[in-house]
Formats: sequence, C-alpha cells, structure tokens
Amino acid sequence: MAKNILITGAKGQLGSELSELFSQYPEFNFIPTDIAELDLTNKEAVASFVSEQKIDYIVNCAAYTAVDKAEDDIDLCYKINRDAVRNLAEAAAGKAKIIHVSTDYVFDGTAVNPYQETDATNPQSVYGKSKLAGEEALWTVCPESLIIRTAWLYSIYGNNFVKTMIRLGKERPDLNVVADQKGTPTYAADLAQAILSVIVHAEKTNAFPAGIYHYSNEGITSWFEFTELIHQLAGITTCNVHPIPTSQYPTKATRPMYSVLDKTKIKQTVGIIVPQWEESLKRCIERM
Ligand SMILES: NC(=O)c1ccc[n+]([C@@H]2O[C@H](COP(=O)([O-])OP(=O)(O)OC[C@H]3O[C@@H](n4cnc5c(N)ncnc54)[C@H](OP(=O)(O)O)[C@@H]3O)[C@@H](O)[C@H]2O)c1
Repeated sequence: MAKNILITGAKGQLGSELSELFSQYPEFNFIPTDIAELDLTNKEAVASFVSEQKIDYIVNCAAYTAVDKAEDDIDLCYKINRDAVRNLAEAAAGKAKIIHVSTDYVFDGTAVNPYQETDATNPQSVYGKSKLAGEEALWTVCPESLIIRTAWLYSIYGNNFVKTMIRLGKERPDLNVVADQKGTPTYAADLAQAILSVIVHAEKTNAFPAGIYHYSNEGITSWFEFTELIHQLAGITTCNVHPIPTSQYPTKATRPMYSVLDKTKIKQTVGIIVPQWEESLKRCIERM
C-alpha cells in the first residue's frame, strides 16, 4: 500500500517546492497541510490527524522563521519551533517517522571549517535557540527521527533574500550588502528533492536513516557575492552593489558569521549529488 506522507507548512517555501515534486513520486500518497488545515500548536488535532490519516512519514516544513521579529515574539516562536515539534513527535511515536527541518542558526558561527553534525551547538538568537529546543524535544520523544539542518534558503515561493535583492536591484541605484558573513545558499527545490530521496532510500533499504544531517548547496559565498550573481542572472545592470561589514548593518537578531555546512554525511548515506550554489541559483531565477 502507498505510504502516507504528511507535509506540514506546505504553503511555505520548502513545503511549496516539495508539493511541486509530488507528481514525480506516484508511489507515495502526499498529504500537504498548512496552519489552516492543521495547526501544529494544537496537540489534540495533531494526534488525531496523524492517527486517523494513518501517516507513515511526517516532513515538518512548518516553522516560525521571522528571525528578527522572534527576538520580541519569543512565546509564539517557541510555541511553533519547539512545542509544535513535540506535538508532532508525540503523535508520531511508534507510528510514523519524522523528517524535521532545522537551521544553521543552532551554531554560533565562530568556526573556520564547515560545520559537521557532531559539532557543538551554541545558538545566538531566539530563533536559533527555539529551533535547537525543537531538535531536543524531537530527540526526547522520538529518537528515531531525522533532522536536516539547512541554511540561507530561497525559492520561487515566499519571501526570501533572492526575491528581495531582485526587487531592491530594480528600485535602487546603489545597494549595500554584508560581505563578511560566509555561508552557502540553499535552493529549496534541491532540499525538497533531497528530503524525498531520504524517504525513497528508507523504503528501498527498509531502514530509516535516523540522525542529524546537514544540507545546503555546495560552495561558499557571502551575501554580497550572492547579490552580485543574483543581479547578473536577473539581468539587473542599473544597481551598484557595495560590500559592507556586518557592523554597518545592525539587525535585532545576531547571525552566524560563518555557517558553511558539511554535507558529507547526507551524500554518503543517501547517495545524493548536491548541486553547486551558482548552478541552483540560475535554475531558480530561470523559473521566476
Ligand atoms: N528560510 C531560511 O532561510 C531558512 C534557513 C535555515 C533553515 N530554515 C528552516 O527550513 C524550514 C522551512 O523554512 P521556510 O523558509 O520554507 O519557512 P516558511 O516559508 O516561513 O514556511 C513555514 C510555513 O509554516 C507555516 N506555519 C507557521 N505556524 C504554523 C503552525 N502553527 N501550524 C502549521 N503551520 C504553520 C507557515 O504559515 P504562515 O506563513 O501562515 O505563518 C508557513 O507556511 C524551517 O524549519 C526553517 O526553520 C529556513
């Protein structure tokens, strides 16, 4: 019988990209939900949904993702990023396998080499702390879960850095962009494909590869270099992009200065090829 895969946060960036892939996986029965269909903060609703729909896998794309707003909106941030994850875990225990999405913000960004899954966490923002608390809640209730930490996510859907830079590039003759924060962008369509590859792998091998995994695109860049390529690929020639240090762009939440993620574990375990960030950006902008 086709396995039932619950997608939460299906109207977000990642959830929308996952939804685009459903037709490529006719062997699965996808059940996409967002807050209107299933509010994850409602413990009873989550429990009955998972049980009544006979869910086999849960891909949790739902989150509170407004990083700066979270600094003032602490209760709601924890309600969604920690308590809702616990609700899912309690509903899934003994029934469904969970693939949960987490973030590079669980790290403090002081590393000089790509972060491995075993590296010490030390979140510097409310958002990062709430996401780490979500990871811990999941392990406590469902230790057989899989967490994928990702970074710098963008897509044709929702609000993200790529869309903002295209808009500002069209509006302004000059743009200052932070050049001393290093990381790797992640095209949500690639991450969506990687998540489904995990499920296919689990079904083929009859073994769910529980644990923490890191996933972003390949390579390393800064927000400044990222913007330069966004403008080039979008054909924006009327905006001068200037590199600035983080100190000249204060934000409410502290971001990691370095958040490159080591992808070795997911590549070796699931056997996926991770595209280079420049190539993925090109594919995304072509779809816009
Ligand atoms: N965006 C990034 O740069 C980034 C970086 C690293 C990791 N991540 C992680 O990647 C995952 C996907 O991020 P994303 O950018 O796709 O997020 P997103 O676009 O903000 O989507 C999250 C979705 O979850 C929904 N949601 C919020 N509260 C909910 C609730 N109580 N019940 C059910 N659904 C709820 C949201 O609905 P509303 O819009 O109505 O609130 C939204 O549709 C998240 O776990 C995030 O923490 C993101």
